[in-house]
Amino acid sequence: MSLGTSLIVWVCFLPEVNADWLVQARGHSHYCSLIGGFPVSHRGGSEGFANYQDEALREGKSLKDEDVLQHLPVGTTATFYFRDLGAQISWVTVFLTEYTGPLVIYLLFYFRVPFIYAPKYDFTTSKHWVVHLACMCHSFHYVKRLLETLFVHRFSHGTMPLRNIFKNCTYYWGFAAWMAYYINHPLYTPPIYGEQQIRLALILFLFCQIGNFSIHIALRNLRPPGSKTRKIPYPTKNPFTWIFLLVSCPNYTYELGSWLGFTLMTQCLPVAFFTLVGFIQMTVWAKGKHRSYLKEFRDYPPLRSPILPFVL
Ligand SMILES: NC(=O)c1ccc[n+]([C@@H]2O[C@H](COP(=O)([O-])OP(=O)(O)OC[C@H]3O[C@@H](n4cnc5c(N)ncnc54)[C@H](OP(=O)(O)O)[C@@H]3O)[C@@H](O)[C@H]2O)c1
Repeated sequence: MSLGTSLIVWVCFLPEVNADWLVQARGHSHYCSLIGGFPVSHRGGSEGFANYQDEALREGKSLKDEDVLQHLPVGTTATFYFRDLGAQISWVTVFLTEYTGPLVIYLLFYFRVPFIYAPKYDFTTSKHWVVHLACMCHSFHYVKRLLETLFVHRFSHGTMPLRNIFKNCTYYWGFAAWMAYYINHPLYTPPIYGEQQIRLALILFLFCQIGNFSIHIALRNLRPPGSKTRKIPYPTKNPFTWIFLLVSCPNYTYELGSWLGFTLMTQCLPVAFFTLVGFIQMTVWAKGKHRSYLKEFRDYPPLRSPILPFVL
């Protein structure tokens, strides 16, 4: 079987299908997705096809990793549509790469390594304590994300297209450099309302970081290890999760709050811009997830909004 073409159609008699064929197909450098022309499903015996992507092709149902070939609700024949998805990269690798970048890049500006500002500022430190606080908050945020990626999230996707890593890294790394350049600039001026503004911002930032972490834990607990179950998230004993009463994706709400806090703390335009772009992106995702919840669960709580209670 060649995977050189972008789409392969494979008609087979089910009793003849050998799980090894499918595993061999996966051995090519490009992973492929398997989509049923009929409402069919498949899993190639062993772990097989862990990298299928849901691509709605024709009228067939997308196939899931956990589907078993022998249990297909078809007669003795089935048609499979393979699509070559191009080079893939592990989801976790993408996250680790895109989050390590901002952490390191920000610190380069914070320590004012040579060739960023004028030579006389090389390795000097800012006289404003808010600059040091901002560095701690920024680093804390990305270390938290890295640790969550490694130890908290239970992702349902194995891989994503390789090109995503370039797109995502450009976004995260580029913004980190832009923000860090201005916050750590020798001519940076602290927020207009001084200490009061910084303290308020810090409280908002920390509150939302704890909230975001609490939601991630709540989502993790919805999914038993090794499974891909999706359930309706409900408030738990942790008060930070009570926002689930009103919002479908409160982790995005808290993420927005964190960046609003960071914007208030640094009073820096590139930070405000990053917050805005992140908000737009998360709103698009939250709306999509909210729609899927409504579609998937008939008893989905009607009071919830995607990202902002009663508003959006
Ligand atoms: N600043 C920014 O621009 C920005 C943008 C996006 C994200 N972020 C940050 O990155 C974090 C993670 O983003 P994300 O988009 O991956 O969040 P997400 O889609 O809410 O997913 C978080 C984790 O929870 C799982 N999950 C979600 N809903 C579930 C459900 N109903 N049942 C069981 N498991 C469920 C997800 O599994 P699946 O693998 O199945 O989805 C994933 O492992 C965000 O919370 C936010 O803090 C920041």
